[in-house]
Amino acid sequence: MALIELRDVKKSYKLDSIEIPVLKGISMIVEKGEVVALVGPSGSGKSTLMNIIGCLDVPTSGEYILDNIPVQNMNRDQIAHIRNKKIGFVFQNFNLIARLTALENVELPMIYAGVGRKERKERAMELLNMVGLSDRSGHYPTQLSGGQQQRVAIARALANNPPIILADEPTGSLDTATGKSIMELLLSLNDKFGTTLIIVTHDPTVASYCRRTVRIKDGLLVE
Ligand SMILES: Nc1ncnc2c1ncn2[C@@H]1O[C@H](COP(=O)(O)OP(=O)(O)OP(=O)(O)O)[C@@H](O)[C@H]1O
Ligand SMILES: [Mg+2]
Repeated sequence: MALIELRDVKKSYKLDSIEIPVLKGISMIVEKGEVVALVGPSGSGKSTLMNIIGCLDVPTSGEYILDNIPVQNMNRDQIAHIRNKKIGFVFQNFNLIARLTALENVELPMIYAGVGRKERKERAMELLNMVGLSDRSGHYPTQLSGGQQQRVAIARALANNPPIILADEPTGSLDTATGKSIMELLLSLNDKFGTTLIIVTHDPTVASYCRRTVRIKDGLLVE
């Protein structure tokens, strides 16, 4: 079943009234439960594409159908709602909130989703336990290693049980061994929960863990 479908998606940015095309007509389908590596040179449009798939940005033209829902027909509130429910994000620089503890960071998406305090704390603890950090729940991001911060970020991405995780260079700031353990953690989510994973990477080893590789070059998919 197609969970993500892009039809001739184009994206351009306007700078000083000059239109710069970034995505030039991307069509792709990602089935439920797939693990996809998205690779391509710097500036080729990987993050731009991920932002569209993650409903953080909208295409200039073309269609995006997420879980049978045409996203272009939705208003801002509906898009925010669907993003909160369907998508978990993992970034290269972890993007944790510095003034919140690990536990509070994981709770945050559940606050937005309206989950009650008690249930939220329990679920956040459960998730930290799952990523191997139950003994670090009260630590602030600066008190955690890079790999530990990325584990917290993954726990946070899982908070609302999303069917899709989008990871933009999740191992890009980590050493090889730590990066490998983060990839193993992400793949275990696919195993256990059937989570669909799309992972942007420059690293061929990381891409080799994924069952399918999609290559983007100059705003178009190749091969
Ligand atoms: N908000 C924006 N306004 C104008 N141009 C943008 C904007 N965001 C991205 N671009 C341009 O779009 C192109 C693609 O950027 P994008 O971040 O998607 O590349 P990328 O493939 O993720 O690169 P990298 O591997 O370096 O992260 C770049 O040329 C960039 O300058
Ligand atoms: Mg990028």
